[in-house]
Amino acid sequence: MGAVRIHWQIKAVLPIAFVLLNGLLLFMLATVSWRDPERHMVLLVAGGGAVAICAALLVVLAFLIQRPMVELQEKIARVGEGDLNASVRFARRNDEIGDLGRNFNRMVAQLRESREEIQRLHRTQMSRAEHLATLGELATGLAHEIRNPLAGIAGVIEIIGRDLPATSPARAVVKEVRHEIAQINHILTDLLQTARPHPPEIRRSNLNTTVEHAVMLARQQALSKPIQIEFRKAEALPEVEHDSGQVHQVLLNLLLNSIQAIEGPGKITVEVEPHGESAAIIVSDTGRGIPPEHLPNIFRPFYTTKGNGTGLGLSLARRIVEEHHGRIEVTSVVGKGSKFVVLLPMQRPAAEMAAVS
Ligand SMILES: Nc1ncnc2c1ncn2[C@@H]1O[C@H](COP(=O)(O)OP(=O)(O)OP(=O)(O)O)[C@@H](O)[C@H]1O
Ligand SMILES: [Mg+2]
Repeated sequence: MGAVRIHWQIKAVLPIAFVLLNGLLLFMLATVSWRDPERHMVLLVAGGGAVAICAALLVVLAFLIQRPMVELQEKIARVGEGDLNASVRFARRNDEIGDLGRNFNRMVAQLRESREEIQRLHRTQMSRAEHLATLGELATGLAHEIRNPLAGIAGVIEIIGRDLPATSPARAVVKEVRHEIAQINHILTDLLQTARPHPPEIRRSNLNTTVEHAVMLARQQALSKPIQIEFRKAEALPEVEHDSGQVHQVLLNLLLNSIQAIEGPGKITVEVEPHGESAAIIVSDTGRGIPPEHLPNIFRPFYTTKGNGTGLGLSLARRIVEEHHGRIEVTSVVGKGSKFVVLLPMQRPAAEMAAVS
């Protein structure tokens, strides 16, 4: 039930009208039933005075309240149209109406500051995006330029290796060169994927299988090390909408980082579990950990503390996860280990599904 809305002018006029009526009543009483001419005169003057005062009050009220209200309405309309330089003049008044004016002016000033801040941030973001796009184009161009001669070199090395006698000490050198070529190729692939991302091809499928596949590959990588990789899948997890190839890559990047962070014997645990509307993939290791001052940097492209790292692994992982509308969280204790949590919504937001179909 809505309360009855009474216009402020009516509210202001009601008491005045009441006084006015009293005045008129006195006036009529005086003229009709009072016989004493002296009192008669007094009442006549009093009644007339009351009427005059009420009329004057009405005029003053209209001036004091109506004008600021009209101005306020006009300025609100201007703010609504986007003019944030609008301010009301009655803010200098030393009463409630003045308070209202000052609050209004302050609110508009805050809106103006917020808008300027948003515009400034937008400009910075735009220029950053432009820089990144240029950098991306440069990187992909360069990667392609390097890949072709590299394939040629790899072919030549292959032939040389084949022709070498089995006992030749040069075989070790050829093997090393092959390894280095594979490493350069790996860097170029990462670079190309970072600079020219493919939109995810999202399908509803079993997340346990995707993760398990990455765990199996990581176990192969860690064969020569005393590292145990444990996998705990989520029982009864509904199918999760994801690009299995890309999520597989995220997992592999996290697992390789964990393997590389462990010196000597250690353990990596990979868990999949439901987390509200999302599925969580948790990768924890007993590696060297990440100092708190490095934590804000680890997702930045090209940030690496490794001699042969590109620093693209985590930035790529985060981009993929964000394209899935998920997020990656990390906690780490130096000397104890790190824990990466990947949260993927089980279903894409409805708006995106509508856009696709
Ligand atoms: N599990 C982890 N334990 C300790 N440090 C980590 C871990 N994961 C990431 N880091 C730190 O974050 C940095 C960035 O990781 P990222 O995967 O992006 O690059 P990288 O591993 O150095 O190189 P790349 O993955 O491209 O070969 C690493 O160099 C390392 O210092
Ligand atoms: Mg890495």
